[in-house]
Amino acid sequence: MTARSCLTVVLAAGEGTRMRASRPKVLHAVAGRTLVGHVLAAVQATGGRIAVVVGPGADAVTAEVKRAAPDAAVFVQAERRGTAHAVLAARAALEQGADDILVVFADTPLIRPETLAALRAPLAAGAAVSVLGFRPADPTGYGRLVTDGADLVAIREEKDASPDERAIRLCNAGLMGLSGAHALALLDRIDAANAKGEFYLTDAVALARKAGLRAAVTEAADDSEVLGVNTQGQLAEVGAVLQQRLRAALLDAGVTMAAPETVHLSADTAIARDVTIEPYVVFGPGVTVAEGAVIRSFSHLEGARVGPGAIVGPYARLRPGAVLENDVHVGNFVEIKAATVEAGAKANHLSYIGDARVGAKANIGAGTITCNYDGVLKHRTDIGAGAFIGSNSSLVAPVKIGDGAYVGSGSVITADVPADGLAVARGQQTVKPGWAARWRAVAAARKKP
Ligand code: UD1
Ligand code: MG
Repeated sequence: MTARSCLTVVLAAGEGTRMRASRPKVLHAVAGRTLVGHVLAAVQATGGRIAVVVGPGADAVTAEVKRAAPDAAVFVQAERRGTAHAVLAARAALEQGADDILVVFADTPLIRPETLAALRAPLAAGAAVSVLGFRPADPTGYGRLVTDGADLVAIREEKDASPDERAIRLCNAGLMGLSGAHALALLDRIDAANAKGEFYLTDAVALARKAGLRAAVTEAADDSEVLGVNTQGQLAEVGAVLQQRLRAALLDAGVTMAAPETVHLSADTAIARDVTIEPYVVFGPGVTVAEGAVIRSFSHLEGARVGPGAIVGPYARLRPGAVLENDVHVGNFVEIKAATVEAGAKANHLSYIGDARVGAKANIGAGTITCNYDGVLKHRTDIGAGAFIGSNSSLVAPVKIGDGAYVGSGSVITADVPADGLAVARGQQTVKPGWAARWRAVAAARKKP
């Protein structure tokens, strides 16, 4: 059998009002990715063309769609007149044709590619409409699936349902498949003669039946997959489910986590086997951790690459552009940004390393700061291999410390230090023997009445 072509229409015209937020609903993020970004990732894994329908003036949504799925075509639904009306906003994409048309909601971010594939299977077997069903604990608000044996007869929206129909537990999850051969004809026949006065996509089922075509229902393997987001509470709930999935996948892949429930991951977090993650670690987007590394408690990483055998934390912060090569040690209260720390180098305590290179096996003493910012521009610090930076030094960039050089502690370094040289840049120490005892005597005499 040749592979069937697919067009997925993603409805992303939802607003953020019920979330009491100014930003559009589908731009809220869980696990370091927007809701629409999660849906697009699942759709991309399915393959085929993508059309996204956004509301009027939704430039931010369009920008995020283009970022996440550069090949997606974006359509605007000028007025919110129902789910079928929204799908038809992508008419030009539908007219190009595809064997299977999938309709998914951008506010249902937990949908998996396997489920999208399951939704397509009945279409390949000749059904004109394929619906994803589920049995929520509380069916209020969902469309009910009216069945006749194995056949799907109609979807009745809550507001239009009879008391008998409301008693049906099997509900419409919202995702739908349409056979490309019939999709436009069915969609064009949908009217707005219902309680909400909207063009319901769900009417495609009854219309297909009337035309002598078949509609099928597939039950979701896992209810959590079709959780929609309308409130901040639901956003958090969806986030929690996603975290569980991500943690389980890492544990399966051979990552050790003593308290996985305290580790916060991003959808793109890539962690190799034999890595240990201690409790209470946060991974923002764009982090990779190589084999054998240890991420200790209370560390926060984003946009960072941790090399094999590196040890990070406790209490370390790796910001975007941090690259730790093999066996690097980064300890407590050390922040690294846009800097490569080469193999075997150590920065164990209380440091800021930004816009820098730290050469192999260099040692960065406690309290070392790269002064990378002059209030206007950022400048680079280059620290050579095997250099030793004494504690509490300020390296005022741009500056270069040569291979094997020493910097005396407490120095403020404003000029390059040659390889194997020593730079000391601090007030010279004076020692006055007996001074303290004399001072105490003077002070005590003054204190007497
Ligand atoms: C819809 C289904 C219902 C199902 C439920 C699952 C219809 C008519 N009803 O109801 O059977 O049980 O989802 O959650 O489809 N949208 C637009 N433009 C519009 C209207 C909606 O883009 O004009 C988008 C929304 O942003 C959302 C999705 O379509 O992403 C669903 O719309 P919503 O109003 O939430 O439909 P429900 O009433 O929840
Ligand atoms: Mg809804």
